[in-house]
Amino acid sequence: MRYFDQVIIDVNLATMDPAQPAAYGAIYDAAVALLDGNIAWLGPKNELPEFDTLATPVISGKGKWLTPGLIDCHTHLVFGGSRAKEFEMRLQGVSYQEIAAQGGGIVSTVKATRAADRESLFVAANKRLTALFNEGVTTLEIKSGYGLDLESEIKMLEVAKLLDKHHPITIKTTFLGAHAVPPEYKGDADGYIDLVCEQMLPKIAELGLADAVDAFCEGVGFSNAQTRRVFEKAKALGLPVKLHAEQLSNLAGAQLVAEFNGLSADHIEFLDEAGVKAMAAAGTVAVLLPGAFYVLRETQLPPIELLKQYQVPIAISTDFNPGTSPICSLKLMLNMACTLFRMTPEEALAGVTVHAAKALGCVDRGMLAVGKRADLALWDIEHPAELAYQFGVNPLTQLWINGKTSIT
Ligand code: NIG
Ligand code: FE
Repeated sequence: MRYFDQVIIDVNLATMDPAQPAAYGAIYDAAVALLDGNIAWLGPKNELPEFDTLATPVISGKGKWLTPGLIDCHTHLVFGGSRAKEFEMRLQGVSYQEIAAQGGGIVSTVKATRAADRESLFVAANKRLTALFNEGVTTLEIKSGYGLDLESEIKMLEVAKLLDKHHPITIKTTFLGAHAVPPEYKGDADGYIDLVCEQMLPKIAELGLADAVDAFCEGVGFSNAQTRRVFEKAKALGLPVKLHAEQLSNLAGAQLVAEFNGLSADHIEFLDEAGVKAMAAAGTVAVLLPGAFYVLRETQLPPIELLKQYQVPIAISTDFNPGTSPICSLKLMLNMACTLFRMTPEEALAGVTVHAAKALGCVDRGMLAVGKRADLALWDIEHPAELAYQFGVNPLTQLWINGKTSIT
């Protein structure tokens, strides 16, 4: 007789486990047994091992679909202010790069974030987090990068850590000090990179505030050489790296992040074959951000066929931020990955589960398999493609995080 904490029966599983041969790694008329926050058993219901049916809670999924909890692996969820005025400017024809050059863009959010206290940052971010939670997100990454001085970067990361403590969603934090040149370093990007490498990174590592380090390698951000300096320091401190790369131009950021065995290269609309090859060799995940593509009305599509050809795992994320992706819905990103990027609903779902887990270096989750964390979402749908197909109606019925029921 086996012992379980909880057993879920009468469900169809979209395991997203590549070891399962069917589309979506599906197992029909299945059961899942949980123990100590993990999946202890799963398979067809008629093969469920014997367990103490009197002592164990048994939940019926009533024929619905169970997927891994969704993972949003690239967000800028903590920030002050709003950029609605810039939205209006962009609609009048001013580009994202022009707005940045005029001291708007990221720098305008930096001003608002520096001025905000921890409490207001927490309250605003918590609302966004709850919106994502209500549509099945169980793990989410939050980047700093709107503080751009030591004190304000620490403030942002501490708010992210507080959210992790007080909200059921598991938060992973990323230090994005090299996001933009702050006003006080205008014209001296190298001087700012000195500050990032010599003061900010060591302090943030010492305080244990970041799980990873990111940078914005772009004409309006930092050069390849400046990004390399940040990565070298991160490596020396034992922190994994990832990169905002090839979003608006190609600065060979993908090769750079691959050289450091980085977790992911994100955006990558202008990625070329050399970059794809480097990512494939390094096991670096491609994170596509259809929300930013949509909001900036970009026309250059990420090289999806090349990524598939070289078997680079593709993750999908909201990139939730006040400038280029003020869209707080990972479910909408599933739809956009299909409609804008021509991915299949199955590829899109893999992008917010198994591949997003890899992008965060959290391989203990992201698929339904024995030994993985019991982060589960139960959906009132007839087919898993519905998750990408339909938007605006919420089919989420129940959510488990680390084996604990969070929404019923
Ligand atoms: O991922 N590209 C850089 N960072 C964000 C945009 C941040 C902003 O505009 O505030 C992004 O798109
Ligand atoms: Fe981003």
